[in-house]
Amino acid sequence: MKSFKESLANAKNILILTGSGISAESGIPTFRGAGGFWRTYLAQSLATPHAFKSNPSLVWEFYEFRRNGAAKVQPNKAHEAIANFELRLTREGKNVTVVTQNIDGLHQRAGTKNIIELHGSLYKTRCTKCEDIEINHTIPICPALDGKCSPDPDAMTSDIPIEELPKCKKNSCDGLLRPHITWFGESLDADVLDKAEQAVETCDACLIIGTSSMVYPAAMFAPRVAERGIPVAEFNIEETDATRKFQYHFQGPCTATVPEALA
Ligand SMILES: NC(=O)c1ccc[n+]([C@@H]2O[C@H](COP(=O)([O-])OP(=O)(O)OC[C@H]3O[C@@H](n4cnc5c(N)ncnc54)[C@H](O)[C@@H]3O)[C@@H](O)[C@H]2O)c1
Ligand SMILES: [Zn+2]
Repeated sequence: MKSFKESLANAKNILILTGSGISAESGIPTFRGAGGFWRTYLAQSLATPHAFKSNPSLVWEFYEFRRNGAAKVQPNKAHEAIANFELRLTREGKNVTVVTQNIDGLHQRAGTKNIIELHGSLYKTRCTKCEDIEINHTIPICPALDGKCSPDPDAMTSDIPIEELPKCKKNSCDGLLRPHITWFGESLDADVLDKAEQAVETCDACLIIGTSSMVYPAAMFAPRVAERGIPVAEFNIEETDATRKFQYHFQGPCTATVPEALA
């Protein structure tokens, strides 16, 4: 830890990569953890364009549940340590970039400013007709979804008609809205990916927190930084398939290890 902190003190462009593990201690389950089911569905099977096409009501019920859940919990000590670190280093004229796979908005709620949301956000919608993207924190997102998002395995799908699901209000477009989230099988937004690539190419220290390094393209970012000979520190409760590629591995809950590293 002492050695990593010395590298960090000498760095001017720090990249912090985060995955769902950083929000686990706030109470948001990771997909690969025990909380991977909603009703009888594997979460990954609902986070797909195919699922939305065949049953938009069911997918909106699932996302209403997740919007509700993330809005109720609080950022934890790891999110806070990152936000404080950014504030302190920005004052010293240094640069901190957070690139997250998370869609829960907890980094921003902790105060992080310079953030790239690789996979979009639970609190943004995109029109399936005109592609317009809007920020939306309203819960329920539409009256028909009120109280319709129980995770109970016995709960039935509400089969809400398309007319009553979230609709685009722009220029009387009326297209069906979807969560502005990159689903399994979809490609990342090109501009967002460019920005992340730039941070990967220019950083001189890197932290990778709470990610299994199994979801591409995010999974290749930290290994690419390490290949340039830059110090990379992994923070995880267990070893991952990528651990051996990094100079440092700090094992344990990130609410303990990350504040220590960034203090
Ligand atoms: N909070 C969110 O926004 C959220 C939650 C679930 C899934 N997702 C989305 O789904 C994709 C896949 O998600 P996933 O859950 O399979 O991610 P993942 O495969 O990266 O797994 C989470 C990792 O976090 C580690 N971890 C768990 N608790 C930890 C803790 N307290 N401290 C440190 N490390 C911890 C686990 O060991 C695991 O390696 C993500 O890329 C993301 O877009 C987002
Ligand atoms: Zn529209």
